[in-house]
Amino acid sequence: MKERNANASSSEKEAAGNAAASLVEDGMIIGLGTGSTTAFAIAEVGRRVREEGLNVLAVVTSYQAEMLAIEAGVPLTSLAEHPVLDLAIDGADQVDAKLNVIKGGGAAHTHEKVVAHSAKRFIVVVDESKISEELDHFVPIEVLPYARELAKKQFIELGGKPQIRLASRKDGPVISDNGNVIIDVEFGVIEDAAELSQKLSTCVGVVEHGIFLNTDEVYVGMKDGSVKII
Ligand code: 5RP
Repeated sequence: MKERNANASSSEKEAAGNAAASLVEDGMIIGLGTGSTTAFAIAEVGRRVREEGLNVLAVVTSYQAEMLAIEAGVPLTSLAEHPVLDLAIDGADQVDAKLNVIKGGGAAHTHEKVVAHSAKRFIVVVDESKISEELDHFVPIEVLPYARELAKKQFIELGGKPQIRLASRKDGPVISDNGNVIIDVEFGVIEDAAELSQKLSTCVGVVEHGIFLNTDEVYVGMKDGSVKII
C-alpha cells in the first residue's frame, strides 16, 4: 500500500483542528475522533475548557482519543449515557467532491462511524492533501480475525486487492481497539461509494468498513494557513 499525504505539515492540520474546535459551544455533548488532525481539535477543546471555562462532555472513539482528552482536561462521557451528540469532529484519509470520506488509517473507524452517526452534525478535519475529485484511497475494513481469509475472498470477488495491515514487517497484524484485524483493500477509483459501502457491509465477517457517507462539512487546513470550509 502506498503511503499518502506524507507531505502535509502539522500547521495545516492544526488550523483545521482549531477551526473545528471553535464550533463547540457551552453545554454541548461532542464526539472526538482519532488521528493527528483531530488531536489538534482535542487539544484546543481542552484549552477552552481550562482557560475559558467551556462546559462540555465528550465521547471518544479510541484509546488514543481518550488519552489525549484526559491529558487536555476534556471531561468524558459515554454513548450509553448520551446517545445523541451535538457535534462530532474527526479526521479522514481522503475526501471526494461529494464529501464522501474514507477513514480508518488509525484502525478506529468502527467506533468513529458509530460516533459520526450519533451526531447531529459531523465535521471532518483534514489538510489540503486529503482532498480529491474522486475516491481512490484503499478502504480500511475491520474484520473478525476468525473470518479473515473468508473476508479476503469476498473482497477479491468485489474487485479489490486485500492486504492484512501489519504493525511492521516483522510484527504481527494491527489489532483494533475491538480486538479485530484491519484489512486494507485497494479498489482503484471508487465510482459509486454508496454502492461499494453497501456491498462491503454485507460481507460475512466484516465488522465495519471505512467509507463514510454522512459528512456535513469538511474543514480543510490550507498551505497558506487559512481554513476552507466545504
Ligand atoms: C483513524 C482515522 C483518522 O481520522 C484518519 O486516518 C486521519 O488521520 P490523520 O489526521 O492522522 O491523517 O480515520 O481511524
